[in-house]
Amino acid sequence: MSGTAAPGPGIELVGGPTPGALPEPPRGTSERPLPIVMDCDPGHDDAVAILLALSRPDLRVLGISTVGGNAVLERTTETALRVLALAGRPDVEVAAGAAHPLEGPLHTAPHVHGESGIEGPALPEPVSAAIGEFAPAAMARWIAAADAPVVLVPTGPLTNVALLLEEHPSVRDRIAHICLMGGSITEGNITPAAEFNIWVDPEAAEIVFDAGIPVTMIGLDVTHRSIVWEPEREALSRAGDRVGPVVGGLLAFFQEFHERTYGWAGTPIHDAVTVAHLVEPGLVRTAALDVRIETQGRYTRGRTVVDLRRVTGRPPNAHVGLDIDRERFVTLLTEAIRSYR
Ligand code: RIB
Ligand code: CA
Repeated sequence: MSGTAAPGPGIELVGGPTPGALPEPPRGTSERPLPIVMDCDPGHDDAVAILLALSRPDLRVLGISTVGGNAVLERTTETALRVLALAGRPDVEVAAGAAHPLEGPLHTAPHVHGESGIEGPALPEPVSAAIGEFAPAAMARWIAAADAPVVLVPTGPLTNVALLLEEHPSVRDRIAHICLMGGSITEGNITPAAEFNIWVDPEAAEIVFDAGIPVTMIGLDVTHRSIVWEPEREALSRAGDRVGPVVGGLLAFFQEFHERTYGWAGTPIHDAVTVAHLVEPGLVRTAALDVRIETQGRYTRGRTVVDLRRVTGRPPNAHVGLDIDRERFVTLLTEAIRSYR
C-alpha cells in the first residue's frame, strides 16, 4: 500500500452473517435523538469523533468521560475540554476517569499523537472544567438520568467502561449497546497482534466484551479502509471558517504517522467511524461474531480473537466491522464539519 492505495476489498464471510443473532445499535432521530456517552482518550481522531457527534441532531451527547491512553489522563481531559470550546459546547460535562489500566502501568502513544496527545494546530483554551466526579460514577449518573436506553461510544482503552459495569451494575440494563473503536480481525497497530485501545487494557476489554451487552467492534479492518486522502483533507480544511481549518491541521499531523508506517498520503480517523456508524445505516458492513480477548499471550496480549469462520460454535457477542463505504464516510464528515459556524 502506498500513496493512495488502501487495503483491498473488505473481509468476506463464508456462509454469510448470522441474521438477528445480536441486536444492532438503536437509531436516533431529530425528534428523539439517540442518547450517547463518549468515553475517549483525545487524541486526534477522538477529537474529530466528538465534533462529529456534537454536530448531529439525531444524537445527544449526555457527557464525555476521559481515560489515559493516547496521552496521560490530565492531557486527554484538557484536550476534551478544548474540543468542546472549539465546538462551542462548554455545556457538555467532562468527567476524568482512570489514569491507568486495571493492571499495570499506562503506555501512551506519543509516536502517533505527540507528547501532548494532540500535536498540531492550536486548540482553543478551555472555557469549562472537568467535574470532580470520577468518570464511572458520572457515566452511571448520565445513563440513569437518560430518557431512553443509552449507547456507550468508547474510543480509547476500556478501563472506565469496565469500572462502570463492575461498580455500577444497576445501570447495565439501561445500556442498549456499546459501539467501540478497537481491535482488529487481522493485523495490530501497536504490536503485530494487537490494536492500541485493547492492548492498553486487555482485562478491561475482556470485561466489556463478556458483559452480555451487544457490542459493535469498529476495528482496524474497517478504519484502515476509511482513509481521508490528502485532497479530501484539504477540502475538510476549507469546510466552515472555524472548525474546518483545525480539523484539517489535526488530520495533517495524524497523517504523518500513517505515511511513515503505511505509506499512505492520507489518514484514517478511527474513532469518528464509530459515530458515523451510529448515524448512517449501511455505512459499515458488519457480521455478528464471537470475539475473545487475549490477556495472556507473550506476543499476542491485547489481541481480539475474532471467530470469523464460526469454528468455535460460540454465540456472537459483537457485530464486527468488515468494510466501510469510504466515500460516504468522507462526505458525512465533511458536511458535519461544515455545519459549524
Ligand atoms: O488504534 C487506534 C485507536 O487508538 C484510536 O482510538 C486512537 O485514538 C487510539 O486511542
Ligand atoms: Ca482514541
